[in-house]
Amino acid sequence: MPKALLTIADYRKAARKILPRMAWDYFRSGSDGQTLLARNRAAWDAIELRPCVMVDVSTVDPSTTVLGLKLPFPALIAPMAYQKLAHKDGELAVARAAAACGVPCVVSTMATTSLEDIAQVPGPKWFQLYCHKDRAITEDLIHRAEAAGYTALVVTADAPVLGRRIADERNGFELPKGMTRENLARYERPMGGSGSGSHLSELFRTRQDAALNWRDLDWIRSLTRLPILLKGVLRPDDARRAVEAGCAGVIVSNHGGRQCDAAIATARALPEVAAEVGGKIAVLADGAIEWGNDILRALALGADAVLIGRPVLWGLAVAGRAGVKAVLDLYREDFTRAMQLCGCARVADARGLA
Ligand SMILES: Cc1cc2nc3c(=O)[nH]c(=O)nc-3n(C[C@H](O)[C@H](O)[C@H](O)COP(=O)(O)O)c2cc1C
Repeated sequence: MPKALLTIADYRKAARKILPRMAWDYFRSGSDGQTLLARNRAAWDAIELRPCVMVDVSTVDPSTTVLGLKLPFPALIAPMAYQKLAHKDGELAVARAAAACGVPCVVSTMATTSLEDIAQVPGPKWFQLYCHKDRAITEDLIHRAEAAGYTALVVTADAPVLGRRIADERNGFELPKGMTRENLARYERPMGGSGSGSHLSELFRTRQDAALNWRDLDWIRSLTRLPILLKGVLRPDDARRAVEAGCAGVIVSNHGGRQCDAAIATARALPEVAAEVGGKIAVLADGAIEWGNDILRALALGADAVLIGRPVLWGLAVAGRAGVKAVLDLYREDFTRAMQLCGCARVADARGLA
């Protein structure tokens, strides 16, 4: 990797130069006025840690375990649609880099490579489920993920409809010819609709189930033995319901600022959710995690691990599999240094820092 790529911001700038305008706008944008992108970031910056001194940190162990999964450091790759827009090798490059680093990835329903092909790459993987109006499709996706060897199901709860991404509307965002939503291709009928604006909002309007509710979670549970994590939880009462509904985990997320632009920043929602959950199930968090310090902050606020979103796409755009690996290595090294600077020899020591 070029020496100039020292931070996630460096990768973002490099990716911006490489990516076609439509892809950059799709990856980078938030919804509406895009206030949450900056608030997510600022909320992590506002968390001050209280480092411990005079601790032997000559060797520290950044590894941890989440839902029985051994992680080299407390991070997974967030589910993100359409990765071939960043690089021709798309999801396979991400999965291979993740495997090389031992980092699990969460594969999106909206992948541009089939979940079965991605599953051929060794390494642990979870499948992210968008619930379709057509329940037979939802059911089939769950069975396919289980059969292909995915070890958990991430049910996305914060996208009953698509947040309004203005740049995508202006660009008339759509997948280039030859690129398809491979997981869904077998079910797809030609789309109706106006033919203007973003194709993604039309897709959501016609296919995704805006009626998704707690009863459906029981139904989903009845279909699979896989542990279920609910993604997009921002309130303690919803976290309590997730525990009651038998979820194995919640992901404190506002979809990287792409859904409700007025939503609370994840760093601010996390402590309340973690307190309510009280260690009964796993708590993960995402949104603008750019530094090792941010991972440490999330752990200090009660998370078991974080998900990394866009920075993986920046690495992918810059150098495919090697770029993603470089980004993951950067996070691991940065997190290890953050642990040392805060006097944490083990991940569990982070709890006392906030
Ligand atoms: C381009 C893009 C596509 C995404 N696609 C999905 C998706 O298919 N399913 C999902 O649950 N979340 C999706 N997300 C949200 C991410 O999983 C994650 O919550 C968010 O990106 C984390 O914020 P960060 O990008 O600031 O790290 C997407 C995010 C981006 C940026």
